[in-house]
Amino acid sequence: MSDRPTTTDAGIPVGSDEHSLTVGPDGPLLLQDHYLIEQMANFNRERIPERQPHAKGGGAFGTFRVTQDVSAYTRAAVFAPGEQTDVLTRFSTVAGERGSPDTWRDPRGFAVKFYTREGNFDLVGNNTPVFFIRDPMKFQHFIRSQKRRADNNLRDHDMQWDFWTLSPESAHQVTWLMGDRGIPRTWRHMNGYGSHTYMWINASGERFWVKYHFKTDQGIECFTQDEADQMASADTDYHQRDLFEHIVAGEFPSWTLHVQVMPYEDARAYRFNPFDLTKVWPHADYPLQEVGKLTLDRNVTDYHTEMEQAAFEPNNVVPGTGLSPDKMLLARGFSYADAHRARLGVNYKQIPVNAPHVEVNSYSVGGAMRVRNVSDPVYAPNSYGGPQADPARTDDGGTWHSDGEMVRSAYTLHPADDDWGQAGTMVREVLTGEQRDRLVDNIVGHLLNGVSAPILQRAFEYWKNVDKSLGDRVEAGVHAKQDEKDPKAADQGNPARSSMQDKA
Ligand code: NDP
Ligand code: HEM
Repeated sequence: MSDRPTTTDAGIPVGSDEHSLTVGPDGPLLLQDHYLIEQMANFNRERIPERQPHAKGGGAFGTFRVTQDVSAYTRAAVFAPGEQTDVLTRFSTVAGERGSPDTWRDPRGFAVKFYTREGNFDLVGNNTPVFFIRDPMKFQHFIRSQKRRADNNLRDHDMQWDFWTLSPESAHQVTWLMGDRGIPRTWRHMNGYGSHTYMWINASGERFWVKYHFKTDQGIECFTQDEADQMASADTDYHQRDLFEHIVAGEFPSWTLHVQVMPYEDARAYRFNPFDLTKVWPHADYPLQEVGKLTLDRNVTDYHTEMEQAAFEPNNVVPGTGLSPDKMLLARGFSYADAHRARLGVNYKQIPVNAPHVEVNSYSVGGAMRVRNVSDPVYAPNSYGGPQADPARTDDGGTWHSDGEMVRSAYTLHPADDDWGQAGTMVREVLTGEQRDRLVDNIVGHLLNGVSAPILQRAFEYWKNVDKSLGDRVEAGVHAKQDEKDPKAADQGNPARSSMQDKA
């Protein structure tokens, strides 16, 4: 007799782990074998829709400990001197599906949920400080261009470069992506950036613009394209395995959080539009200031409930923190919660991994899969002692002055704003000669993989705009490789592409 008998989901002991209920040993099956039916039905419903972007990922729990005093800039409890907060972090690739290799060239997601004593605070960033576009209208199109074609279901470099070269604001992020950091060696060996400009508000109500930088304490390490290609076949889940095994071994990875802080009034006259997500704030203008340490020390025990159902959302901003006029960030403030309602259901915040570690006193009622009891009164205002909003406890996600006609328009340009400048600075002033050589090789290799002639030509111009010498090297590199093969090679990479070109 087992002291831990198998049961149905209703807790009823079952008759066998191996045999279904049949009429005689040779069948037929019986409809009243509700345990068999429960097992089949559950199996058929095990998978939930994967995240649209960032489907492949993993992560761990840990803590964030404040090591410096930044109370002059923010009143947020999570950043109070000495505060320690439980966190969940999820790393991911962007374009690949759930089973895709960890080592494809792609930005990596770096999402952190802080379970603070003022509710959940989510920083949903990437391992890069900038992004490909600056208007949310283009996000859906951008992601589609990086995923799969409609006809043959293949990824297609032609559509990637078509989108990028028609979107010059992508140059800074594409330069980064094609460089060494486009393939981190492990999740432990990459930085995380909030990327957008956010707001901090101090106890006196003073406002500041901030950018978050999580710097890896393990050091930056990257894979070359060859190493990554080999790893993609040797171990598809290499990044997930690496993190899991290091935590099991007690080698807990950590990152030091820094912020760049811009006084509120500086934004108007700063040389770059500080809300443009395709730009960084040069460190010389706004130096990094240390805040604290993020350490991951606990693996999940059930990937589905704690990672697949984890729901990060940039709109989760706690008192003392806020959003900014960055249009991308404001759109994200809507998009994530909408995605979670579609993927996980309206009551996704009651799934334990998403539930705050503080009392919830909201007026939400009902909905599919609600498990937390609601009590009366279910409306406000009321005379029966229900929760009451306290304006002193909130900054309403940050506020700023706004006035103007309703328009569909690009951002106001600041004196140094253009699409190529900061990418060029990276190529000329940040990369070493060897890193620049690998950048050229990576771009050439990517372009030779099925990019059609007119788009190739646009790509050469794109890189010449970033840096003339880089662009010349890319063009010469592509032509040299084409000459080595069939002279028509560039047009033969992707047979299905011709259907799209015919339409054009
Ligand atoms: P700095 O010389 O102060 O900073 C350059 C930064 O570039 C480094 O701190 C490092 O960021 C990052 N970096 C170093 N090697 C690479 C690489 N191979 N690929 C990608 N990034 C790398 O100069 P500025 O602040 O004036 O910025 C100059 C350029 O550097 C920018 O135009 C931008 O392209 C890039 N950059 C700037 C960042 C910023 O926030 N100011 C952040 C990252 C890149 P880190 O210290 O974060 O590892
Ligand atoms: C995931 C939308 C830009 C980082 C997602 C998801 C959506 C989305 C719908 C899937 C969410 C889910 O199902 O759980 C958008 C929109 C954007 C945008 C509309 C722009 C308008 C960005 C930017 C960054 C970013 C700029 C980084 C700075 C992430 C990360 C995830 C994610 C890290 C995965 C979160 C996780 O691990 O669960 N995005 N995104 N996104 N996005 Fe974005």
